[in-house]
Amino acid sequence: MYYSDELIEEIRSKNDIVDVISGYVRLQKKGSTYFGLCPFHNEKTGSFSVSGHKQMFYCFGCGAGGNVFTFIMKYENATFGEAVKTLADRAGVKLPEIEYTPEMKKAANEKATLLEINKEAAKYFYYLLRSEPGKTGYKYFADRQLTDETMKKWGLGYSNKFADDLTKYLRSKGYTDELIVKAGLASRDEVRGTHDKFWNRVMFPIEDINHRVIGFGGRVMGDGEPKYLNSPETPIFDKSRNLFGLNFARSSKAGHIILCEGYMDVISMHQAGFTEAVASLGTAFTSGQANILKRFTDNVILSYDSDGAGTKAALRAIGILREVGLTGKVLDLKPYKDPDEFIKNMGADAFRERIENARNSFFFEIDVLKRDVNLDDPEEKTKFHREIAKKLCVFEDDVERNNYLEAIAREYSISADGLRKMVNDVINRTGLATPIREKPKTGIQKKTEPDEGIRKAQRILITWVSEEPQIYPLIKEYITEKDFTEPIYATVAKKLFEGIENNNFAPASLISEFEDEEEQKEVASLFNTKITGLDGIPLLMDAIQDRERALKDVVVKVKENSYEYYSKALSTDVDALNEVINGKKLLEKLRKTTISLN
Ligand code: UTP
Ligand code: MN
Repeated sequence: MYYSDELIEEIRSKNDIVDVISGYVRLQKKGSTYFGLCPFHNEKTGSFSVSGHKQMFYCFGCGAGGNVFTFIMKYENATFGEAVKTLADRAGVKLPEIEYTPEMKKAANEKATLLEINKEAAKYFYYLLRSEPGKTGYKYFADRQLTDETMKKWGLGYSNKFADDLTKYLRSKGYTDELIVKAGLASRDEVRGTHDKFWNRVMFPIEDINHRVIGFGGRVMGDGEPKYLNSPETPIFDKSRNLFGLNFARSSKAGHIILCEGYMDVISMHQAGFTEAVASLGTAFTSGQANILKRFTDNVILSYDSDGAGTKAALRAIGILREVGLTGKVLDLKPYKDPDEFIKNMGADAFRERIENARNSFFFEIDVLKRDVNLDDPEEKTKFHREIAKKLCVFEDDVERNNYLEAIAREYSISADGLRKMVNDVINRTGLATPIREKPKTGIQKKTEPDEGIRKAQRILITWVSEEPQIYPLIKEYITEKDFTEPIYATVAKKLFEGIENNNFAPASLISEFEDEEEQKEVASLFNTKITGLDGIPLLMDAIQDRERALKDVVVKVKENSYEYYSKALSTDVDALNEVINGKKLLEKLRKTTISLN
């Protein structure tokens, strides 16, 4: 849903950030700023600051920061749109209604009804589990060591022995057979008419991320086929875009997500305190699911069965995670089959230890390869090394590839140079990736990112100007937004300078222009950099000469960098020439000038 900038700004300005955050974090006033314990990382002293003046929050410990929308997004794990809704409700701002076509209305109504039907069914199964006929179901769960509290939390239930009592119940609530079938809860044929899909099973409601029941898994309470029966895909149940347990795991602060195969595994991990666990829905893990996970974490720990099928599924999942840019690790639960059995036998602490020792997914892939290789046979050994070389080509970034190459060489006692040669052979033959330089220039290779010192100078300058706008006239002859060579910084500088010229700069409103949480964090850090000299030494307010010198150093550094930047871009960027010619003149002048803060 698209909302106008004006509306977003209205909602932001009606939600005072100190008020909003006070509802989540205990804040104490120190000077003009409020401080508290950061909700985004573990800490004992409060480095989390909220500024009413800037309408921003910033944590000096973990760098989390942004405006009131960012806070809600981060705290509630919400999208930008969801945060807008929450805060609009809070401030009593009415959001525009979406204009539905009649077909959209019908589809939306139908979905709403299907959700209602699933909810009714969940309530019915839940009730049955606690009734006389459900005793066997309750005992089944209790025997599997689920507590009463856990059964409640997951809304576990039981489907009766009769093949039509849910259908009868739902009919009595006024739903047509057609809709009951469409909701995935019954089937219809000529012999039996409409009959329940689930009977005599313990029931696991499957909820979407907003805790709405969208389907069920039902397990036989003993041996029988199929072991688990799942709702079919329906208009509300898309198995490739939902994950069991994500409605709870989304608020976990573990810093990773554990992905496994079983409903019972998820439930017993949560019961043992690992609330970061989710499972796919009786189908293979999909890239749609990977993209959803990416909203919540960068690190996924796979916990698949250790048998052949499980290993194969894990290898597939690793590839899918890698494609969407997530790092995968793999849990080793041997000698147990799955997390549920492991935790039952070894307990939560041992499980935590296994998480800490989870194997990097690339190493896991190589381990699997190695299983079938007889390293005493020179031919097999060479083939194994070639396979490794081929696999290394999945890393497009040559620094990353080289790091993996060296680690693998160490771990498997292979010559790094030999392996590098093989990789380059593969690349030359296939055109995959770019060849690895034979000898790195220095010990540590740098990415082509601008030097952190330069980024820091740019950040200091932006914070400084935003806190003391009176210095802007002193530097504007030398500095424009073009001198900020980080794209985000340039956008911010442009708004900052325009705002000062027009006397209406509101840093917090600028943050809403970035929908991505990472970008919002970066922008917030731009307004919260400690003002120091380039050497990192803080400046005292009354040490005017120090401050003048430091300001000049920062301005010179920013200008020098931009001059170099545009010089390098001359061959590809037509605007660069102007910047270079002017830059040179201004730099010479700037070096001779003193900036006077009096
Ligand atoms: P598993 O067979 O590994 O069982 O199925 P499990 O999770 O260990 O189950 P318990 O501990 O015996 O109760 C893993 C997942 O695969 C799907 C289900 O989602 C299940 O949770 N599955 C399995 C099915 O959909 N149908 C089946 O017949 C079996
Ligand atoms: Mn199991």
